[in-house]
Amino acid sequence: MTSKSSSTAYGTVAVSLHWLTVLLIIALLGSGMLADETSDPAAKARILTAHAPMGIAVLLLTLARIVWWWRFDTHPDPLAGDPAWQIKAAKAVHGLLYLAILVMAASGIGLFVLSGAGDIIFGGAPGPLPDFGDFAPRVPHGIVAKLLLALFVLHAAAALFHHFVKRDATLRRMWFGS
Ligand code: HEM
Ligand code: HEM
Repeated sequence: MTSKSSSTAYGTVAVSLHWLTVLLIIALLGSGMLADETSDPAAKARILTAHAPMGIAVLLLTLARIVWWWRFDTHPDPLAGDPAWQIKAAKAVHGLLYLAILVMAASGIGLFVLSGAGDIIFGGAPGPLPDFGDFAPRVPHGIVAKLLLALFVLHAAAALFHHFVKRDATLRRMWFGS
């Protein structure tokens, strides 16, 4: 297995970026929902101390991934036998996953900057945590979070369907050593 993808399998860079992103997204969806449900300001601040840097890490990984595919690597060919509509649908879901991550990261950063929470949590500024609902980026951050979760479920279900029902190489070739 090489750093770049071949016509039949993903390379180590694409595989590493994919699974690292998956782990971070799971942690982000969990910590974000927990922050939303927590009313105690100190507990909310503790959760967001982890949530925000993870969000920025996933943004950097996604930008790196876009540059990687654009400049350095080419996706493997679709598996023989997959109908054209499925190939198109998978590509559309992949594109929407990228878009959802970028919107989540941008709105999260906007929320931190506009509300002053960034200064309070990371800059030592005094004051209670703001009510995030008062700031416009909270709306897309909440809506696109649900969209991202739906895309995640759809995408993972399709991968598991290929692996366990169709028993093809879709999931195997997105792993190391394939
Ligand atoms: C891909 C990246 C991100 C994901 C998947 C994500 C996910 C989430 C989710 C699921 C929620 C709860 C939404 C709801 O239930 O309505 C949330 C809330 C929040 N997130 Fe993010 N987030 C990301 C990036 C960021 C970043 C980069 C920041 C800040 C720099 C941030 C700051 C916040 C804040 C302040 C809240 C509101 C908490 C509240 O209302 O109590 N997020 N996030
Ligand atoms: C939110 C989490 C996830 C994101 C953002 C994501 C994103 C992507 C993207 C953008 C691609 C296209 C290749 C690329 O551009 O690097 C891809 C491919 C793939 N993903 Fe995910 N993924 C996630 C979760 C998962 C999970 C949980 C599974 C398995 C259960 C999975 C299995 C696969 C497989 C097998 C491929 C290759 C598909 C093909 O060759 O057509 N992904 N993923």
